[in-house]
Amino acid sequence: MIEAEFWDYDSVDEMAAAVAGDIGFIIESALDARGSALLAFPGGSTPQPIFAELVKAKLNWKKVTIFPGDDRLVAMDNELSNVRGIAKAFLPTGARVFPITAPIDDYKLAGNSADARLADLPWPPDLVWLGMGEDGHTASIFAGPDLEAALDAPKARRMVGVMPDPLPVEAPVARVTLTRAAILQARTILITIKGQKKRDLLEQAIEDGHSSKLPIGRVLAECDQPIDIHWCA
Ligand code: 6PG
Repeated sequence: MIEAEFWDYDSVDEMAAAVAGDIGFIIESALDARGSALLAFPGGSTPQPIFAELVKAKLNWKKVTIFPGDDRLVAMDNELSNVRGIAKAFLPTGARVFPITAPIDDYKLAGNSADARLADLPWPPDLVWLGMGEDGHTASIFAGPDLEAALDAPKARRMVGVMPDPLPVEAPVARVTLTRAAILQARTILITIKGQKKRDLLEQAIEDGHSSKLPIGRVLAECDQPIDIHWCA
């Protein structure tokens, strides 16, 4: 079984302060070691209060590049867009926010385009920060026809296009996502989740390992570094 440590918080605010502190430390360490930092951030609602705390950190943001670890194939001014949320929060700090989507209807081609865009970035990322849906998806690695492509992509493949099946109600659109291989190349992996249902699901997925039916279980089963999972009810 992988090495995962759960950090429990009494409130969203407490979790936001702690996670923002950890990410600030990851950025500072990367800046000290390499002079720049590369971070993949999740979409969805859970990260928002953490973004709001993190932007207050006094860091050399100009040397920090943030890209969405997955994004929904919508226009960048659509409120479903993950890069939109990241840009709104972090552009004012001076950080570089790097979009991964392109206005292409064919989601597989959009995946190829996202993969090519990421080839321009120094690799690996200092952090891949992940969320999880109540269906067990992480990043945009969903059940459906593209699950194996995302899980079994070769090491050099960073992004693929994905059509979730069933489509998630909160954002029923095609996606591009980091592959399992790319996620696992990160120097640090951190997960944030909210609610008892997700907690139970994630604990079970970790226990089930390779035999997990959930995308997050299949991703983490191959992880050979310790990960921190931050949780609040
Ligand atoms: C996305 C995500 C996704 C997200 C989970 C949790 O774009 O859909 O990056 O993996 O992290 O769906 O979302 P919530 O935090 O909104 O529950």
